Amino acid sequence: MASHFKAAERLKSLKRSGIRRFFAAAQEIPNVINLSVGEPDFVPPKYTLESGWQASLEGKTHYAPTNGIPELREALVQKAYGDYGIKYDPDSEVLVTVGGTEAIFLALLGLVNPGDEVLVPNPGFVCYEPGVLLAGGVPVSVPLLEGNGFKPSIDDVTSLITNKSRVMILNYPNNPTGTVLSREEIAALAKIAVERDLIVISDEVYEKIVYDDAEHYCLAAFPGMRERTLVVNSFSKTYAMTGLRIGYVYGPKELISPIWLVHQYLVACVDTFAQYAALAALKGPQDFVSDMVTEFDKRRRFVFRRLNEIEGFSCVLPKGAFYVFPNIKSFKMPSEEFAQLLLKEAHVATVPGSAFGSYGEGYIRISYAAAYDQLEEALNRVEKTVKKLKSTS
Ligand SMILES: Cc1ncc(COP(=O)(O)O)c(C=O)c1O
Repeated sequence: MASHFKAAERLKSLKRSGIRRFFAAAQEIPNVINLSVGEPDFVPPKYTLESGWQASLEGKTHYAPTNGIPELREALVQKAYGDYGIKYDPDSEVLVTVGGTEAIFLALLGLVNPGDEVLVPNPGFVCYEPGVLLAGGVPVSVPLLEGNGFKPSIDDVTSLITNKSRVMILNYPNNPTGTVLSREEIAALAKIAVERDLIVISDEVYEKIVYDDAEHYCLAAFPGMRERTLVVNSFSKTYAMTGLRIGYVYGPKELISPIWLVHQYLVACVDTFAQYAALAALKGPQDFVSDMVTEFDKRRRFVFRRLNEIEGFSCVLPKGAFYVFPNIKSFKMPSEEFAQLLLKEAHVATVPGSAFGSYGEGYIRISYAAAYDQLEEALNRVEKTVKKLKSTS
């Protein structure tokens, strides 16, 4: 008998994440090389996990304070001062969250009113648009076009702002394109946010993963931005702690208070073990991070070179994160179909660009957070499949 139970109306426009869909499909394929998920293939330094474990053995297995253990908040405040020169109050201006994901949802649920417009990068990280929709807001796509280096055009941003615009989401270094913005480019976006009185959710989870001459600039450090910016960050990418589910958000008290309220009722607090492990990560030597980035850089160059050698792909050299976003338009196939073909024929899992929004069509995302020899094998397989495709078309 068909069930009469139906999902709530507010889920009407939500689809299953394209990343998760390809990740799940990849599990079914024998001998698959999985380049679909966005997580480092490293394990966190042993002492960080030992620190979490030690705290648990000492009985720190109870609910933590809603906003995070004081030692971690203090260390996070010091990090913000050291890295960006911004002073935050540890009691009211930082919140420890269940990954950056929770922080993004809290920000949207806590600050967006029904009908408010939210500027969302397109292509962009898969959580933004569903978060806006669940909050009752209206996502407004900011196109990130290859012709503009996958950077937002200031003219586009300006013309998309209306009197209903309330929030702008920015994400640098960017997922899925790997783009990093210069100081001047960030300053131009900051200026618009100030002039048009927007709140900015600045997703900076890849801040430490930048290459060549690229630098990360925290949006909140620009004039007029501290009071209107929620800086979302995470231990997932920097310390390869995706499974520990720990992130954080900085902001002025006026913006942190409402999202704290949502956090309190949603999760009560973050896993105590993870908070002690994260604290050890912040306080310990940072060579783990630089070694990981050096290794990613080697892989980035390799994947970029190899993709550009294969007929049909063209690829911009990304300056951050651990993704490449090659153009596949010459194959004259929707990205979903192309990614399916790579999965079924080459046994290589990628993500169709369309999973990141309409402007991602014509691209696929390849994560190079996989061992070098796996990447070599994956690209050989892709080359073979693509050659066959070209010869039959
Ligand atoms: C741009 C971006 N923001 C936020 C996240 C959330 O990561 P987590 O919830 O593991 O901190 C991700 C994960 O892939 C991401 O790519």
